[in-house]
Amino acid sequence: MKKRVLSGMQSTGKLHIGNYHGALEHWVRLQDDYTCYFFVANYHSLTTLYQNSKEVYENSFQVAIDFLAAGIDPGKSVLFIQSLVPEHTELHLLLSMFTPISWLERVPSYKEKISNIEFADLTTYGFLGYPVLQTADIILYDAHFVPVGEDQLPHLELAREIARRVNHYYGDIFIEPAPLLTPFSRIPGIDGRKMSKSYDNAIFLGDSDEQIKSRIMNAITDPARIKKSDPGHPEVCNIFAYHRIYSSDILSQIESECRTGKRGCVDCKKECFRNLTTALSPVRERRFRIENQKDYIKDILREGSKKASYYASGVLNRLREKMGIMF
Ligand code: TRP
Repeated sequence: MKKRVLSGMQSTGKLHIGNYHGALEHWVRLQDDYTCYFFVANYHSLTTLYQNSKEVYENSFQVAIDFLAAGIDPGKSVLFIQSLVPEHTELHLLLSMFTPISWLERVPSYKEKISNIEFADLTTYGFLGYPVLQTADIILYDAHFVPVGEDQLPHLELAREIARRVNHYYGDIFIEPAPLLTPFSRIPGIDGRKMSKSYDNAIFLGDSDEQIKSRIMNAITDPARIKKSDPGHPEVCNIFAYHRIYSSDILSQIESECRTGKRGCVDCKKECFRNLTTALSPVRERRFRIENQKDYIKDILREGSKKASYYASGVLNRLREKMGIMF
């Protein structure tokens, strides 16, 4: 019997190469060895964007398209939308009864947002309960493993605690999920800050060749390097960070040519563009092929959500029966 894996992403909009190398690429590789559930966490996005549901709707589509483009295969894995599987909302409610408020108030992502004046409108019931919903997402599928980045570890720990608490009162209903740490991907934006849609420094899987080229040609390299003959410092260069991923076979050559002033940034960027687009061509071609086929995407999501619901309702029934709410 294969072990079970579940992971999700919020509906942030089109995904970039940081999302790809930091998550999707690893998810795709898990598909043969595990029974996988992957989903778009649109309710989680509504906890912060509740005033703007239209944006969350459009963004959910884009995330689903990028999942498919990356190689999440609906023939192997269950791909679904959180809001199409009502079991998530019901389990969220039931788990909320077991979850002490103090456990939620000490979650780092909550403390951080709530202490920041900018997010004053996030002192909501729903936002406090974000990790309860995430716990429901995970334990509804008897997930053994949850591939996540380091930032999600406190949420995973809380999920284990909540599962344990329910199991303590009602017997072994839920599996305590373990994190499957995805290797940290240090892929900076073109300006050297963390790659992020909101910094306008990202390269998206759905960008055209021209967009990618202009991003790369405008990227900040080694600021100390004015002339081509100046010795470069690859360790501070954003383009070199991309070469690490896309030009690994000639990395030491690039590095020494840069350090000795034999390689100019313009040529180096052109090579980076070529290697990046070559490496990502299967993903980008798939994206261009499906991105306008909304009906096809909707069919996949509805089909996946039905399968998810079928499994989740079995798990939820174990708790419903124990809690005396079935008449
Ligand atoms: N909180 C996760 C993030 O921001 C998204 C998420 C929601 C998730 N539910 C999940 C991740 C369940 C893993 C498992 O990235």
